Amino acid sequence: MKLLKMCLVVVSLVVLMAVSNVAFSADKLVVGFSQIGAESGWRSAETKVTYQEADKRGVELKFSDAQQKQENQIKAIRAFVAQEVDAIFLAPVVETGWTTVLKEAKEAGIPVFLLDRLIEDKDVDLYTSAIVSDQVLEGRLAAEWLAEATGGKANIVELQGTVGASVTNNRKKGFEEVVAQHPDMKIIHSQSGDFTRSKGKEVMESFIKAENGGKNITAMYAHNDDMAIGAIQAIKEAGLIPGKDILVVSIDGVPDIFKAMADGEANATVELTPNMAGPALDALIKFKADGVAPPKVIQTETKVYLPDTAQAEYDRRKELY
Ligand code: AHR
Repeated sequence: MKLLKMCLVVVSLVVLMAVSNVAFSADKLVVGFSQIGAESGWRSAETKVTYQEADKRGVELKFSDAQQKQENQIKAIRAFVAQEVDAIFLAPVVETGWTTVLKEAKEAGIPVFLLDRLIEDKDVDLYTSAIVSDQVLEGRLAAEWLAEATGGKANIVELQGTVGASVTNNRKKGFEEVVAQHPDMKIIHSQSGDFTRSKGKEVMESFIKAENGGKNITAMYAHNDDMAIGAIQAIKEAGLIPGKDILVVSIDGVPDIFKAMADGEANATVELTPNMAGPALDALIKFKADGVAPPKVIQTETKVYLPDTAQAEYDRRKELY
C-alpha cells in the first residue's frame, strides 16, 4: 500500500512537470526593457530591432527610455519588478551603481539580461547573461586599421563615448594598446562627446581650434559613428577635407557613416550589430522552457568595413534601420 502511494506521488509529479513544460509558451512572456535613450543612430536601431525580435517571438515588451540618466533606469527596473515581468533587459548607461536595484530584481526572482554594455565585475552574480560585443577588440581594430593606413605615423584626436560606460573604457583601452606599439602614433587630444552627433561636433571644433585650425591633426578616432559624423561637419567647416586631410575611423556601422564613406568623407567603421535582443530572447526562452542557464556572456560579431562596400552597405542598411 505504502509502495503504491509512493508510486502515485512520483507519477503525479512527472505528469505535473510535463504539463507545466507543455504549458510554457513564449507568447506569454513579458519583458521589461530599460533602454538608455536615443543618443545615436545605433541606439535607435537597437530599440527598433528589439521590438521586431520580441514581436517575432510573440513576447510582450514593456519599454522605458531613460533619456541617458541612470536614475531613470533604476526607476524603470523597480517598476518592472513591481509589475512582476518575466525578465528585465538592461542597457546600462554606466558601469557602476547597480548593486541595490539588481539585488531587488534578483530577490524577486526576475532574471536580468544586459544588452550591449557591461556593469562592474563585483555585480556579476546579479545578472543572468550579458549580450555584448568584444569592445576592446573594436578599439584594437580601429587602431590597427589606422596604423596600416598611415604607416604608423599619426596625430590622433579621440572622441570618447559616455564617461563611465564600459564601452567607452574598453574601446579606449583597445585603441591605446595598439597605438602604444607605434612610437609615431600619438593621441594628442581625447575627450568625451557623449556618443552624440552634436557633442562630437562641438568637441571636434575645440580640438581644431587648439591645433592650428586642425592642421596638426591627421586622424580622428570616434567611439561611435554619430560623433564621427558631427566631427566631419566640424572638419568641413574648418576648411579641411575629412577622409583626406584628417582620416576618420569610428565604430557602429550605421547607414550615415556608410554614406560618408561612399562620399569619401570617412575611411573605416567597425560594425556593432544592433541585434542584441534576438540572442537575449532565445536564451531567455530556453531558460524558461527547460531551465537551461544561458552562458554568462553571449558575444556578438565584430567586423571592419571600408569604403569599397560603402554604397552597397548604405543601400542595404537604410532600409533595415
Ligand atoms: O553601447 C553601444 C554604444 O552606445 C554604441 O556604439 C553607441 O552608438 C551607443 O550610443
